[in-house]
Amino acid sequence: MIDFKDKVIYQIYPKSFKDSNGDGVGDLKGILEKLDYLKELGVDYLWLTPVFPSPQKDNGYDVADYCAIDPQFGTMEDMEQLIGESGKRNMGIMLDMVFNHTSTSHPWFQKALAGEKEFQDYYIFRDGLPNQLPTNWQSKFGGPSWEYVPSLGKWYLHLFDVTQADLNWDNPKVREELKKVILFWKEKGIQGFRFDVVNLISKPDVFEDDFQGDGRRFYSDGPHVHEYLKELVRDTKIGELVTVGEMSSTHLKDCIQYSAQDVKDRELSMCFHFHHLKVDYKDGDKWALMEPDRMALKRIFEEWQMGMEKGNGWNALFWCNHDQPRIVSRFGSEGKYWKESAKMLAAMIHLMRGTPYIYQGEEIGMTNPHYEKISQYRDVESLNYYEILLQQGKTKKEALSILAARSRDNSRTPMQWSCGKNGGFSDHSPWMDLADNYWEIHVEKQREEPDSVFSFYKALIQMRKEMEVISKGTIEFMEKENPDVLAYERKDKNKVVMVFGNLTEHKTTVWEKKPWETFQKVLGNYEGLHREEGQVILRPYEVVVLESM
Ligand code: GLC
Repeated sequence: MIDFKDKVIYQIYPKSFKDSNGDGVGDLKGILEKLDYLKELGVDYLWLTPVFPSPQKDNGYDVADYCAIDPQFGTMEDMEQLIGESGKRNMGIMLDMVFNHTSTSHPWFQKALAGEKEFQDYYIFRDGLPNQLPTNWQSKFGGPSWEYVPSLGKWYLHLFDVTQADLNWDNPKVREELKKVILFWKEKGIQGFRFDVVNLISKPDVFEDDFQGDGRRFYSDGPHVHEYLKELVRDTKIGELVTVGEMSSTHLKDCIQYSAQDVKDRELSMCFHFHHLKVDYKDGDKWALMEPDRMALKRIFEEWQMGMEKGNGWNALFWCNHDQPRIVSRFGSEGKYWKESAKMLAAMIHLMRGTPYIYQGEEIGMTNPHYEKISQYRDVESLNYYEILLQQGKTKKEALSILAARSRDNSRTPMQWSCGKNGGFSDHSPWMDLADNYWEIHVEKQREEPDSVFSFYKALIQMRKEMEVISKGTIEFMEKENPDVLAYERKDKNKVVMVFGNLTEHKTTVWEKKPWETFQKVLGNYEGLHREEGQVILRPYEVVVLESM
C-alpha cells in the first residue's frame, strides 16, 4: 500500500484546462503542455474528470465507452504519453470511474432497449404503465428519477440526467464488467481512481415511495455498498493505488468504513463528503441562497475530523471541485481581501488531517464568472433548475442571480493562464466564457510573485511534505465557541502546530490564551503576529500557522 498521507492531489477538468488544437475545448495534449507547471506547484497526483467517449450531456459523466478516449480530448496514444510524461515527473494520473450509471448511448443500454433481457438486467428496469412511476423519487438534476420506455412497457431508474441510466450492481455480471474496466486502465499505468457517487451504487431490495425526501435515504450508503466495494478492490487489487470515493449525502459511520486504513478487506483510501459545503443552503436547499453559517461549518469540520481520526478513516480535504462554486466567491472575498481570503481558506483546508485536493484555478484564487445571461450556461443541472425556478415563480433576474451563486458552471470556466487572448486557454473562442477578471487573475503573473496565492499554495504543499505533524499528526479543535475563528492544533510526539483562521472581513480576537512566546509563526498571510493587550488579534481573513519551539 502506498503512503498517500503526505501527498496532494490536483483535479483537472480537461475541457477547461488547456486547448492545444485550437477548437476551443481543452484536451489531453493541453494537459501535457502544463505538466511542468503542475510539477512546480508540487502536486503528486492529477485526477482527470472523465475523458471517455460520451454524448457530453453531463460533460463526460455520461460514459458511452469506459475503455477509450473521446476524440474531442485526443487519442489513446495521447493518454499513454500523458501517463508516461507525468510518471517521469513523479506524478501519477488518476481517472474518474463513473460506475453508478452509464450513458444511455452505451452499447449495454442500447441492447437493453433493443429488448435483450440479459442487458436489461444490467440496469434497473421496472414494469409499469406510462402513468405509474415505480416510486416518487426525484432526480438530482430535477424532475422524476424514472423514465418510461413505451416500446418495452418499462421504466428505468436515473438518479441523475435522463441519459444517465443507473447500473444494477446486484447483477454479478455488471460487477465483473466494471472490474475489467479497472484492470484495463491499471494495465496502462494509471496510479489511482476516483469513484463517482460510489455510495449510491447499492439500491434497496424493495423500492418504496419517499414521503420525507427525494428518495436518497433509501439508496445513499445502500445495503450492499461495502460488500461491493470490498469485492471490487479485492479483485482488481487497487488497494495498492490511491482511491477516493465521492460520497453523496453520506454518513460518518459509513465513511469510516469506506476509508478504514488498517483492516484486512480494505475499501478505499479516502472519501469526499459534502456536508461542509451545504452551510449556505437555506433549509438544505441548494437553490435557496443564504449567508454561510460559520458555526455550522466549524461543527461539521470538527465532527468529521475527530470522527474520522477516532475511527481510523481518512478524509479527502477540499473546498472546490467541478460541481462547486469558487470558494473565494463563496466563503471569502472577491474584493479588497481577495488575496488574504484565498490564502486563509487554502491554509485551513490544507493543514487538517486528510489529503488535500486542489481544483484547477483554485491555486491562483479564481472566482465565479458572474454570468448575466442564461445563454452563457452549459451545465444540464443549471439549465434544468433555471426552468424550475421560473416555474416556482421567480423572475428571470432572480433565477439568474441564484445561478450566478450556485451553478456548477462557476468552476468550469476556462483556466486563466495569462492576460492574453482567451486567457491563454485557447486560440479559438472557448466552449464557455472566461471570467472577465482573467486580466488580473492569471498564472503567468502569480508564478513570478513571492506573495501570490500560487506561491502560498506551493508553500502549503511543501509544508505537508516536510512536516510529519501535518501529514500524520492528530488533530484537536480550539476556539470552538468563537463564531469568527476556525482553529485547530496538530500534534505528534515532537511538535505542536496551531492554525488560526479569521473567517470574517473584520478584525477579531483569538480567545485562546496560549504561552505565545513558546511558538513561532511559520506561515501566514499578513506580516508578523498582531497583539493588543496580550491578546492575539486576527486581521481580516488572517491566517496564522504557529509551530512549537
Ligand atoms: C458526480 C460528479 C458530477 C456528475 C454526477 C453524476 O457528482 O462530480 O459532475 O454530474 O456525479 O455523474
